[in-house]
Amino acid sequence: MKIVLGPASEELGENIAKLVGTEVVPVVFKTFPDGESYIRLDGEVKKEEVFIVQTTSPPQDSRLVQLALMIDAAKRNGARKVTAIVPYLAYARQDKTFLQGEDVSIETVANMLGAVGVDSLITVNVHQEKVLERSPFPARSLSAIPLLAEYFKRKGFEKAFVLAPDEGALHIVEEAKKILGDECGYLEKHRDRYTGTITAEKKEKFDVKGRTVIIFDDIISTGGTIVAAAKIMRELSAREVYAACVHPLLIGDAEKRILEAGVEEIVGTDSVPSRVSKVSLAPLISKELKERKSG
Ligand code: R5P
Repeated sequence: MKIVLGPASEELGENIAKLVGTEVVPVVFKTFPDGESYIRLDGEVKKEEVFIVQTTSPPQDSRLVQLALMIDAAKRNGARKVTAIVPYLAYARQDKTFLQGEDVSIETVANMLGAVGVDSLITVNVHQEKVLERSPFPARSLSAIPLLAEYFKRKGFEKAFVLAPDEGALHIVEEAKKILGDECGYLEKHRDRYTGTITAEKKEKFDVKGRTVIIFDDIISTGGTIVAAAKIMRELSAREVYAACVHPLLIGDAEKRILEAGVEEIVGTDSVPSRVSKVSLAPLISKELKERKSG
């Protein structure tokens, strides 16, 4: 088994390799003056089972192309089996056509990776797990929610109220609640498909007055979802509000806007390396690889 250090996730790849106790294959990469990507695997992969670690957070398109080039390079150089470890799987939110004339982007991405020869894929908290059922190769989504919940437990927040900013994140807070062990609830969110404007409201019955609230989501992108949820929690007199996510994309001034909305701290994972990536996915992914190694 060898771990290929994709340029987007070098540090995570190294940490996974250390925990698994396996050799790494560095990657030489550059961008040509016209914007095209170049990669070269700087090590032997012949007859090896190879795991390529490469997240596809922004710039998604070039990182996806780099991933495709690495898969192809591994196959051409004789790798026995190639698994892509893609902590943040780009395009997963477009998992159906919402408006007439659209594509299903996640299927296009999966077909592209399948076409260059990937044998399987491991991702983390993909937006909708059911999209993986349509993948042309075996694909699995691991969950980093227990790791995030443990982070808050270590801070002494066992009794926090865990909030899903929309119904789609309810399964996430139910998972967090197993560790944080108290109550959970969700808000109803509406996103205007044309303007992107987000509005949220509380329809469910719950009381957060004087309580610590932790909002859990899979992705923080523009921050609009967390800002809307935090504002409602403040209006309902929550004592303090925290935000946790697996994939902290934090586009533009998202972090600033979230903190200005009264959130004490934002916690994310190194799925997307950022200032808030306080929880590493290395233990989660290495455990999966060790199980595959022994199985
Ligand atoms: C969507 O349903 C996702 O789970 C997130 O809530 C969403 O991607 C967050 O996006 P933003 O930060 O732009 O509101």
